Amino acid sequence: MHSADDRRRGTPFADLARRFADRLAAVRPHGDVHFVRPDWARRNVELERDLLPTPPADFLRHPSIAFQMFVNERLLPHELPYVRARITDERLLAEPPVGGPPTVPLPGSDIRTSSNTVHQLFHLLRYQEATGWRIDDAATIVEWGGGFGALMRLVVAMHSGEPTCVIFDTPVFSAVQWLYLSAVLGEERVVLHHASPVRPVTGRVNLVPIGLVGTTEVDADLFISNWALNESMAKAREAVVARHWFGADSLLLAMHAGDPFAGTVLGAGARMVPIGDFLPGQQYLVA
Ligand SMILES: C[S@@+](CC[C@H](N)C(=O)[O-])C[C@H]1O[C@@H](n2cnc3c(N)ncnc32)[C@H](O)[C@@H]1O
Repeated sequence: MHSADDRRRGTPFADLARRFADRLAAVRPHGDVHFVRPDWARRNVELERDLLPTPPADFLRHPSIAFQMFVNERLLPHELPYVRARITDERLLAEPPVGGPPTVPLPGSDIRTSSNTVHQLFHLLRYQEATGWRIDDAATIVEWGGGFGALMRLVVAMHSGEPTCVIFDTPVFSAVQWLYLSAVLGEERVVLHHASPVRPVTGRVNLVPIGLVGTTEVDADLFISNWALNESMAKAREAVVARHWFGADSLLLAMHAGDPFAGTVLGAGARMVPIGDFLPGQQYLVA
């Protein structure tokens, strides 16, 4: 595992924020309206409107992010003990201040964490327990719908090597991921793609707007999509299934228990794992 200090060489936020509009302009042409549900299209318009011309320092508090990606703190008593019992370095729980996320003190320590960081670590650790695979086993990891980049930040932190990471998302979220992950990891570790064909850079976090999915050359070991591919249009799901999960043998998806897409994922060899009584009606699908 990398030391937390290794992971804290971020690029200054003010420098990135000044260049955000240019980065967004580069990826904006690479959306795909056939992939995006109307509710996400609306959130994207609102997010773009409010982040331009320069994103505020507390951009993670925007409703399109905060209400969708920060879970309620009532999950903490259920997830935090599980996570703490399994990690060897509690600095993994430290919440970067980038974006002004809501934080809580980690009991018995001087670390501030967040319900979201605990929730994302919980997913990764439950995946490891359910499959017997480790995040370390995956050299190339593809995520569909990565929010602001919280899970991929933790994948990088947990991994003992330099994994090649790819996140597909809508253009404004690809730009937000560039802003957040560059500020946390350092801009040199993040690549925002804006032209075909997309050849992910080895050992970096590659951000790919969904309009470029068809020309992305990637062979994944692990495919992740938590509450995202099921929130995309059927055409997006068909594209991912037609690509055989980008070649991944191992899968981690999360969605509502009644979601009709679950049948397709089970058909691909995944099995269903209920998240827990504290989050009724939600499930992981893992392989
Ligand atoms: C509910 S959020 C979940 C984010 C993250 N996976 C998590 O669990 O916190 C849904 C994510 O899917 C993305 N998304 C929505 N429609 C999408 C589409 N058609 N293609 C790719 N990503 C999409 C959103 O931008 C967002 O990043």
